[in-house]
Formats: sequence, structure tokens, C-alpha cells
Amino acid sequence: MSAVSSDLLILNQWHNASIQEHIDRVINDLLVSFPCAEQLSADQRRGIIARYTTVLEGNFIYWMTGAYLSVRSEEARSIILGNLREEVRDCHPGMLRKFAMAAHAVPTDSDALGVYQNLSKVRLFIGRLSPIPILVMMTFFEGFIQRFMAYLAEVAERQGSAEQEYTEVHGVCDVAHTQELFRALEAEMMLACEPVENLFEGVDLLQTLIRNIGDASIGKIRSQAEN
Ligand SMILES: [Fe+2]
Repeated sequence: MSAVSSDLLILNQWHNASIQEHIDRVINDLLVSFPCAEQLSADQRRGIIARYTTVLEGNFIYWMTGAYLSVRSEEARSIILGNLREEVRDCHPGMLRKFAMAAHAVPTDSDALGVYQNLSKVRLFIGRLSPIPILVMMTFFEGFIQRFMAYLAEVAERQGSAEQEYTEVHGVCDVAHTQELFRALEAEMMLACEPVENLFEGVDLLQTLIRNIGDASIGKIRSQAEN
């Protein structure tokens, strides 16, 4: 390796470490923003699972495909392709639908409307196909999903559901997925010839959207407490 590329590698690893720290902080803040599962009414539990399903079911593969179309390095392409292959081969959207059905939380029109605006913003962001910000967002998404699974499983269990395949699979496989996406990010950063303007644009948009999943429940809990 030449001196120049080894300098770049060190710089990118430093970047990656600080990106990882920022992502971890955002995930921690998001997780604590969800109300305790035991405080939720049946309607609030249903809402959280239904809105989560609305956000994930039809969009995860779509956004990962956006990541695939945007990246330029062979390493990032092959990592993303592996992720997509697993999603499609094991039918993760079907697994999530089964999970929602068993918890009596199939999304309704109003669940879709509740996330529509912020979901559209993420879709438009993905459409710009900027490789590094998309990879940062998808790394954050995988990390969030993995750490959210214990809570989601508990909410479903309190709905009387015994269907846990989705939460069990994603509580495990997304650990490796997050690490692989960090590697993909490193590979893309090696190819970047100019600084990225807003590295965390997708993370910010997706974070706002994920807050919508819990928002309605938090609002209701607050108004119940005030009465
Ligand atoms: Fe998945």
C-alpha cells in the first residue's frame, strides 16, 4: 500500500469511529424515547407495531437497493448484495407481516398517514443516490433495528402474540449486518474525492420518521397523565 493510500485509510478509520459513535448516540436517544412497554394500552401497542410495519415492510429492501445503486466500490456492492440476498431469500417482509398479524397490528390507513410525510422525505433522500450518506443511514437503520427487537418483542408478547421469528432473526443477524455496512462505508470513503456535505442527512430524516412510530403513543400517555 502506498503512503498516500495508507494515510487515507487511517483518516477514514478515524471518520468511521466518529460516525459509529454518533450513530450509537442517536440510537440510544431513540430507544429511550419509546414509552415502557408495560405502560402501553392495547391500542398504543397495536399502533407501535403497525407503524413499525408500515415503515419497514415495503421500504427496507427498496432503500437497501438504493444503497446498492449508489455505491461505486466492488466491496460495498458485494456487501449490500449479500444483505439483499438474505432479505429476499428468507422473505423478511413476509416474516414482518406474520409478526404484525399475530399481534393484531396489521397497518391501517391511519397508520400509513401517520408516517406518510416523514417517510416521503426519506424516499426522496434515497432517490438522490448519494452513496456515503445513504450507507451511513442504512448502517444506522440496521443498528437501530437490532437494538429495538427486544422492545418490539415485548410489545408483541403483551398483545398476546407468540410469533417471534422476526424479532429473533433481526436481533441476531443485524449485528453482523451493521459491521459489514461499516466496512462498505469505509470502502466508499476510500473512493470519495471530495468531502460529503451532510453525512448525517439520512440519519436525521430516518430518526424523525422512527420517532413517528412511537409518537402517537407518547402523546396519549402524556395526555392520560395530565388528566
Ligand atoms: Fe430484514
